[in-house]
Amino acid sequence: MILRFATVRDAEALAAIYAPIVESTMISFEVLAPDVDEMRARIGTHPANKPWIVAESDGTVAGYAYASSFRGRVAYRFSAEVTVYVAEHARRGGVGRTLYRALLQLLARQGYRRAFAGIALPNDASVALHRAVGFTETGVTHAAGFKFNTWHDVAFYECALGPLDIPAHDPTAVDELPMSVVKAAFAIDRA
Ligand SMILES: CC(C)(COP(=O)(O)OP(=O)(O)OC[C@H]1O[C@@H](n2cnc3c(N)ncnc32)[C@H](O)[C@@H]1OP(=O)(O)O)[C@@H](O)C(=O)NCCC(=O)NCCS
Repeated sequence: MILRFATVRDAEALAAIYAPIVESTMISFEVLAPDVDEMRARIGTHPANKPWIVAESDGTVAGYAYASSFRGRVAYRFSAEVTVYVAEHARRGGVGRTLYRALLQLLARQGYRRAFAGIALPNDASVALHRAVGFTETGVTHAAGFKFNTWHDVAFYECALGPLDIPAHDPTAVDELPMSVVKAAFAIDRA
């Protein structure tokens, strides 16, 4: 397995991983799966300081993870929301854990102080994965989502990424990170 940043050339693979999650589960609160063009646009236009990464196994993308804005107001800029999706055939093989470890390490080195994740319940696998990589639950919002004629609670999780001192700078773009930092984050032997 290798880890790397996602590119627009991964759009087809990422759309294929994500589509069944949108179409058949309440894990994602989207109801229309993005097609390849839409996925290409999402990958191609994400902010420079919000990494999208993929795990590739035998030349095939097995999963992806990315950061997005937690909330829009300026004071939230040291927080990132994270999410991860692993192809059905590749689950329980360490892909999700490996992607998250790398993503959280990148975010920490960029200068983020907190990562947050919202998990539509029930989702035992996601809850277990988030706990396994260091997230703790902060609370549950009730009936926050309605999909497939059912109301769903959302559990929120947080993970500390850095000290709560006075930041010297805003979170940097990933292409401003030294190559050694990226290499260390993408090193698989930590998994
Ligand atoms: C959640 C998800 C990303 C986990 O990815 P994965 O590659 O299967 O997870 P890993 O193999 O890296 O597992 C890491 C740890 O997570 C936990 N875990 C993962 N899947 C689990 C499951 N089905 N049941 C219980 N624990 C699970 C375990 O603690 C595991 O550690 P272990 O293997 O040493 O027991 C994957 O199931 C998935 O893509 N699900 C659909 C999308 C989704 O729910 N994304 C999260 C949105 S909030």
